[in-house]
Amino acid sequence: MKIIAVTNIKGGVGKTTAAVNLAYLCAAGQPTLLWDLDPQGAATYLLRGAPHEHASAKKLVAGNRELPELILSTGYARFDLLPADFSYRNFDVHMSARKRPTERLLKMSRSLRETYAALFLDCPPGISLLSENVLRAADAVIVPLLPTPLSVLMLVQLRDFIAEEGWVDLALLPFFSMVDRRKSLHHEIIASTRQQFPTILATEIPYWSEIERMSLRRAPLPAFAPKSPAAQIYGALWREIAQRMGAAANQPAVTAPAAGPAAQQQRVESVASRRGTGESLGGVIAT
Ligand SMILES: Nc1ncnc2c1ncn2[C@@H]1O[C@H](COP(=O)(O)OP(=O)(O)O)[C@@H](O)[C@H]1O
Ligand SMILES: [Mg+2]
Repeated sequence: MKIIAVTNIKGGVGKTTAAVNLAYLCAAGQPTLLWDLDPQGAATYLLRGAPHEHASAKKLVAGNRELPELILSTGYARFDLLPADFSYRNFDVHMSARKRPTERLLKMSRSLRETYAALFLDCPPGISLLSENVLRAADAVIVPLLPTPLSVLMLVQLRDFIAEEGWVDLALLPFFSMVDRRKSLHHEIIASTRQQFPTILATEIPYWSEIERMSLRRAPLPAFAPKSPAAQIYGALWREIAQRMGAAANQPAVTAPAAGPAAQQQRVESVASRRGTGESLGGVIAT
């Protein structure tokens, strides 16, 4: 099972929108679960799920309740949901009280490994013990980036943190979100950030009211408007992500020292099978 987190320290950048659309697209090819980790429950709302009332972050963290008990069907084939719970606001408190506090989420996810090929994590904003757990567990981290100087700074910090932790097989996959190409500032920031981070995904998600409309329709875009430009662009984003993950999974875990910072970055951003599952998402989905 590949764990794919959608995260950003900021709220309102398009995390939940991306998580719902990408998980739906992933489910076209394989059993996929979306875990709504944000106590606000936006992904749960978009997928018409009801938040759980008795999920209890405390019991989950302690191992007294298992995630499979809480899974709901979304009504779409191969696509299930772990709905949000208000108790998730206390994840940090419960995790910090346990041994190996940064490995709790990885441990919780083990009960899902046999059932799903992909687990998407829709994360709340902020930096917390929960976000560290997410990065520790993930094979890939998708980061929606607003074209502003501050988001670029955040990306640098995130990349450095991953490198410091030595998580060489965690794929860092940022993409520009809510882009308004009519704004020259967006043009400038995107161009300069791409120079600094050549591995940012090529697909950009524009600021479109069609995308915002998802919250009225309460369904993934590719489900209610598969031919729309907005659905197409999430399709392109997903193909790129699946290809990146597939390509990285096919690389040997230990790469010979290669030339230059680009090669170094490629290694930092490569995905391998940290938990020993060798399967490649790219092979299944990138059709
Ligand atoms: N590309 C986009 N264009 C226009 N509106 C968007 C876009 N992506 C998301 N939105 C809207 O912006 C708001 C925040 O998006 P959301 O995905 O919930 O962000 P986050 O999860 O980062 O807080 C929602 O109302 C959503 O419908
Ligand atoms: Mg959200």
